[in-house]
Amino acid sequence: MVHIISTINLKGGVGKTQTTIALSEILANNYNKKVLIIDLDPQTNATVSLMDETKWLEMDKKGNTIFQLFSDKVYNTELFNINNSIVKNVSNVNSGIKNLDLLPSSLRLIDIQDKLPLVSNSGYFIKTPITILKEALNETIKNYDYVMIDCPPNLGLITLSGIYISDYYLIPTVPDILSTYGIPQILSRIENFKIDANIDIKPLGIIISMFRSNNRLHNSIIDSLKYKERKADYPRIFNTYIPLSIKISEAAEFNSRVNTLGQKYGYDLYNKYDELTKEIMSYVE
Ligand SMILES: Nc1ncnc2c1ncn2[C@@H]1O[C@H](COP(=O)(O)OP(=O)(O)OP(=O)(O)O)[C@@H](O)[C@H]1O
Ligand SMILES: [Mg+2]
Repeated sequence: MVHIISTINLKGGVGKTQTTIALSEILANNYNKKVLIIDLDPQTNATVSLMDETKWLEMDKKGNTIFQLFSDKVYNTELFNINNSIVKNVSNVNSGIKNLDLLPSSLRLIDIQDKLPLVSNSGYFIKTPITILKEALNETIKNYDYVMIDCPPNLGLITLSGIYISDYYLIPTVPDILSTYGIPQILSRIENFKIDANIDIKPLGIIISMFRSNNRLHNSIIDSLKYKERKADYPRIFNTYIPLSIKISEAAEFNSRVNTLGQKYGYDLYNKYDELTKEIMSYVE
């Protein structure tokens, strides 16, 4: 059975993309899972850190990215082909990780996002744009054990189309005031969407990201998150915290080729991502 997990936070720069990538790499590499990453973010960060930029730009020009899927609905064309748009064995580790696939994003997604509300109003489409991703992926996702969706820091229509197909969502957050501020809003907005759209998504948990163990504020924010977890106001806080690491900006560089995930992340960080992956599998499987 496929498990579909979105990574979301309304705050930017909290580690959503990095977490999605590392968990996906580890699921495929260490646990032999078939994994598809869907990059729904027009910033294309997951895409460019997982595949060759020249190849991606060519694919985008030919309409073989997620842009084309949404563009088809706006302009009433049928150019998107899912099989031509999935890149197999991505990542800068070991010239690509077996069973780790990517549906790339596009910078052009930002323009199409603004036009999507027109889809619901246009004469051609009686349905909402929310179902676009589901319809395109219905068959394809059956080939995977995990589909990991990297969302932009908003709950716009494109993000909602990913939430619509998700079984779970993860909330990475830096344990500081501004990053955690929007958590209640994510929880309540997804809860409302769940009711409106009649879907069954659940929060899988909050991931502490860029944690500094010697930082007093980080520790006190975590205490307050745990208090809300105990009161059942918040979903579980995963036991594994992802530390702040200086090595990671290199890791996101596709052209810095490495042989192992340990080399890519440095062993401390890699071990944390592995522990977190095991925690996630224990709840999902
Ligand atoms: N554990 C970490 N330690 C240090 N830097 C990190 C860590 N995780 C992520 N980063 C860096 O922080 C920046 C933001 O991370 P990332 O892109 O994953 O966040 P995001 O939540 O996806 O951002 P956005 O909202 O823009 O999509 C990136 O430069 C990334 O390399
Ligand atoms: Mg991101």
